[in-house]
Amino acid sequence: MTPKRIVILAGIFVVLLVAWFVLAPPRFWLNMTKAVEPTAATGAQLVEQYECRNCHRIAGQGALKAPSLDGITLRSDDPVHVTLRLWLRDPRAVKGDTAMPNFRLSDSEIEAILAYLIEIDQSK
Ligand code: HEC
Repeated sequence: MTPKRIVILAGIFVVLLVAWFVLAPPRFWLNMTKAVEPTAATGAQLVEQYECRNCHRIAGQGALKAPSLDGITLRSDDPVHVTLRLWLRDPRAVKGDTAMPNFRLSDSEIEAILAYLIEIDQSK
C-alpha cells in the first residue's frame, strides 16, 4: 500500500468513527460523556434542558401533546419501572412509530429523571 492510500483509508476510518459516535452513540460513550448525579434535583434540571414539557405535562406544567407524566410512576404495575426506563432510553424500542424523540440519555440521566418523576408522584 502506498502512503497516500494509507492516509485515505485512515481518513475514511475517522469519518466513519465520528459518524457512528454522532448518529448512534454507544451507551458506554453516553455514560462517559453525560454522567450526572442521579438525584431528583438533577432530574428536574434535565427535564428543563431536554424540554420534555414541550410535549408532556410534568408536575402540573407543560403541554398535552403527549401523555401527562403526572402519576406515571404509580400507574404501571411494574414496581421497578423497567418499561419507563426503556421509554427514556429508546422510545422506539417500546413503540415503533412513536413521536417521542430519542434524547440519547445516559444511564445516570435516566435514573435522575426517573427519581424526579417518582418524587413528583410521592409528593401528592
Ligand atoms: C416531541 C414530543 C415529546 C418530547 C419532547 C418528549 N416526549 Fe415523551 N413521549 C412523547 C409521546 C408522543 C409519547 C407517547 C408515546 C406514544 O404513545 O406514542 C411519549 C411517551 C413518554 C413516556 C411513556 C409514557 C407512558 O404512558 O408510558 C415517558 C416516560 C416519556 N415520554 C418521558 C419523556 C421525557 C422524560 C422527556 C424529556 C427528556 C420527553 N418524554 C420528551 C412525546 C415527547
